[in-house]
Amino acid sequence: MVGSAIVRELERKGYTNLVVRTHTELDLSNQAAVQSFFEKEKPQQVYLAAARVGGIHANNTYPAEFIYENLMIQNNVIHQAFVTGVQKLLFLGSSCIYPKLAPQPMSEDALLSGKLEPTNEPYAIAKIAGIKMCESYNRQYGRSHGVNYRSLMPTNLYGPGDNYHSENSHVIPALIRRFHEAKINQLDEVVIWGTGTPRREFLYVDDLARASVFVMELAKEKYDQATTPMQSHLNVGVGCDLTIAELANIIASVVQYSGKIVFDPTKPDGSPRKLMQSTRLNDLGWEAHVNIRDGIEKAYLDFCRLKPNQFDYK
Ligand SMILES: NC(=O)c1ccc[n+]([C@@H]2O[C@H](COP(=O)([O-])OP(=O)(O)OC[C@H]3O[C@@H](n4cnc5c(N)ncnc54)[C@H](OP(=O)(O)O)[C@@H]3O)[C@@H](O)[C@H]2O)c1
Repeated sequence: MVGSAIVRELERKGYTNLVVRTHTELDLSNQAAVQSFFEKEKPQQVYLAAARVGGIHANNTYPAEFIYENLMIQNNVIHQAFVTGVQKLLFLGSSCIYPKLAPQPMSEDALLSGKLEPTNEPYAIAKIAGIKMCESYNRQYGRSHGVNYRSLMPTNLYGPGDNYHSENSHVIPALIRRFHEAKINQLDEVVIWGTGTPRREFLYVDDLARASVFVMELAKEKYDQATTPMQSHLNVGVGCDLTIAELANIIASVVQYSGKIVFDPTKPDGSPRKLMQSTRLNDLGWEAHVNIRDGIEKAYLDFCRLKPNQFDYK
């Protein structure tokens, strides 16, 4: 989802010399394959959009795969980028790097200030390692090699290209699919995990892509002014959140599902609230454009273009 959106944004801005690889074409957890890719292509800049990604269920079911694959992908890419002389790289983390009970909204300073949410701790630890890897390369090789690696921590994302798997997807694509199928099958009710009260923030993926290119194009002095050598990441979000119940109502209305929405409080809620403080990035000149209802309408249009056998691709 994010990689395609970044490509759309770079093409919109007139970049023509993009080198991309799908998972099938290049397994980024394979060190030798990543090394020969970098040696052959010699990119000038790197956007690392590949990762093992999923919702609560996937994180809880495959913790070993989440920590191993993410560490391998980012170690291989960041290190080989350095070895082949790449000076600019963008690493994407996630809001789950912050402690479960971090003060809200979560500012960049909250990193490593408390215990993580257990359900996605392995994924979060890998993402924290990615930030620290970029920082360490900047600190050791910034002066000598001009290394300038940057990290963005997006809030929950959604939009075209999302994953609609029945068990492994995030909340917005999961609910789009559930409400769509409930409408088609004329079901009286849709049951949603948890109490419906947790608050979450959602960013449309094309807004993240704009933020990614914006941050990569930012002058070094400006990025350095907004960060510190050992706290070099920036949050990216919309600045406001809503409850899962409010979100479910918006999705039901976009999908035109008119049955009942029932919450199952025996299932886990995750963190009570997750709202990013994105004022550092806002002060640098970026802000989100797409509001949640418009974004979900676009996401639903994209979903309706898929054939049912494409929902469960993972
Ligand atoms: N989605 C969100 O809500 C969200 C929120 C915050 C941050 N992020 C971050 O944004 C980035 C992109 O996420 P996304 O939502 O775009 O996820 P996505 O749609 O699942 O895209 C991830 C891509 O990485 C590929 N990939 C996985 N393992 C790979 C490997 N070993 N080698 C090469 N490619 C591999 C996947 O290919 P396959 O599908 O074939 O495995 C997929 O194309 C990630 O760093 C993620 O942590 C996402």
